Parts: sequence; C-alpha cells; structure tokens
Amino acid sequence: MLGSLCCLLFLGSALSLPRADLELEGRFYEWKTKYNRRYGEEETWRRTVWEKNYRQIEAHNREADLGLHTYWQGLNQFSDWTSEEWFMFVSGIPSQVKRNSSNVMSFDQADVQRLPKTVDYRKKGMVSSVKNQGQCGSCWAFSSAGALEGQLAKQTGQIVDLSPQNLVDCVTENSGCGGGYMTNAFRYVQQNGGIDSEEAYPYVGEDQPCRYNSTGMAAQCKGYKEIPVGNEHALAVAVWKVGPVSIGIDATLSSFQFYQKGVYYDPSCNKDDINHAVLAVGLE
Ligand SMILES: *[C@@H]1O[C@H](CO)[C@@H](O)[C@H](O)[C@H]1NC(C)=O
Ligand SMILES: *[C@@H]1O[C@H](CO)[C@@H](O)[C@H](O)[C@H]1NC(C)=O
Repeated sequence: MLGSLCCLLFLGSALSLPRADLELEGRFYEWKTKYNRRYGEEETWRRTVWEKNYRQIEAHNREADLGLHTYWQGLNQFSDWTSEEWFMFVSGIPSQVKRNSSNVMSFDQADVQRLPKTVDYRKKGMVSSVKNQGQCGSCWAFSSAGALEGQLAKQTGQIVDLSPQNLVDCVTENSGCGGGYMTNAFRYVQQNGGIDSEEAYPYVGEDQPCRYNSTGMAAQCKGYKEIPVGNEHALAVAVWKVGPVSIGIDATLSSFQFYQKGVYYDPSCNKDDINHAVLAVGLE
C-alpha cells in the first residue's frame, strides 16, 4: 500500500499533474458513465473537447455566481461535442416563419408599465416536465404542445401532457422530425378539432403515419395570435396576460449547448437566425 502510494505521488510530481486534473479524471469517468459513452480510438480527442467545455462551463458559472450572468451552465449529453458539431446539430431547421399580418396580437402600451417583476408558470402548475426530443427536429411540436398545455391548465387547473408525436405525424404543412412552425401546429389542432394526450399518442421521436384518434383527445384550440416580430414588450405582456408562449430562439451558440438553468441571454444571438423552438414560461 505504502509503496504504491509513494509511487503515485512520485509520478504525480514527475509529470507535474495538478490535483485538479486528477479530479477531472474522476468527473470525466462519472460523466461518461452517466451518458453511456464508450469511445474507441477517439477517446483522447473527446476527452480534450470535454475538458475544454468543462473549463468553459466552470468559468461561466463562477461569473454567474458573481451575478455577471442571468443563467448557469452544466454538464449534459452534449459536453463532448465541439461547437461546430453543436452548430450542425441545431441549425438546418428552417428559420423563415411565414408571418400572417392579419393575425398579430394587439397590446396596450400601458400594460408594459404594469408588468409584474416576476411571473413563473412552473410554480402555478401550468408547465409540464422538461422533455427530450431526441434525434428528431420536433422542437416545434414540443413548444406548441407546451403552450396548449398551459392554456388547458389555466382553464381546468390540471396539467396534462399533450402529444408532440400527434403533431409530428399529422401537421402536413410541417416536416415532422425535419422541422416546422408552431403556427402550423396550432392551426392543425384548431382545424382537426383537437390534439391527443401524450398517454394516448406516446412520443417515439420518428416520423410515422398520422394516428390521431379522437378517443384520446385531451385539448382543443380555438385560435392563436402571433406576437409582433422582435417586440420583447409585446412578448412580456403576452406571457403575463395569456400564459406560457411558444417562441423561437437562436440555439446555435455553445452558451446554449451547455445551458442548464436561469434566464438564457447571450448578446451574440442572431435574431435573424431563429432555429429552435422553446416555451417561455415566465418573466424575470
Ligand atoms: C391569417 O390569420 C387570419 C386571422 O386569424 C386567418 O383567418 C387566416 O386563415 C390566416 N391565414 C393563414 C395563411 O394562415
Ligand atoms: C380509437 O381508439 C378507440 C379506443 O382505444 C378504439 O376502440 C378505436 O378502434 C380507435 N379508432 C381507430 C380509428 O383506430
């Protein structure tokens, strides 16, 4: 025991490995186990990418703890991806939403002054659990289902998971796992007379033939409004007065690759390249 301990210490000092790196070794092993990674030859390269990302996350979080950011980052299943790989994964979703100028929400400027400091629909039971879309570009379906879940909960006091797969398979104007727009999803639900529950029509994360069955219908949609493009005041008023809102963001930056919690804000975001759909669930 003593012999091997000495040997290890000697090796450590000989290679001048700082203690932090041994800790990282353990963290990397833990992370690999958690996300089931088994590398072949590329292990050294992936480890390098992971370490670089890990240090970036740690540096960001130290700043966030000091109040310099409004959000925190963390390790996740994308922690061994380069920013180029992330970009390729996220982009490729069509970004030009056809606007319908006759369907834009009007809002009272005076309401901007009346906005509450915070709104958190998670605390009001109007937001279902965080989901994983997997290897399918169905963000638009999860975002739309989430907005409808919010309205349903507002009316009934019950949170029910609605079916993104119903939307992936049945919204013919969208491209299923190839991407789509939330407005098309709302119009489908309106015209179809409803959307199935997640329980009745479970998520598989692949394009399939439409299997909507009104027996499993859990919500309907009477209509929807668009928010004036790029108008954050209008968005804030809508979130406050209406409920959780479907929104599009630029998700291509590595700051979003590592996002964990808090209000995401990166001044490098490109408002002209909207490539990911999410759900705004409050104000802060
Ligand atoms: C645009 O919105 C109006 C009002 O809601 C609606 O009647 C019309 O069908 C919409 N047009 C398209 C192309 O979505
Ligand atoms: C719809 O679901 C009900 C109840 O599960 C079932 O009896 C019926 O056959 C289904 N309809 C279709 C068209 O699959």
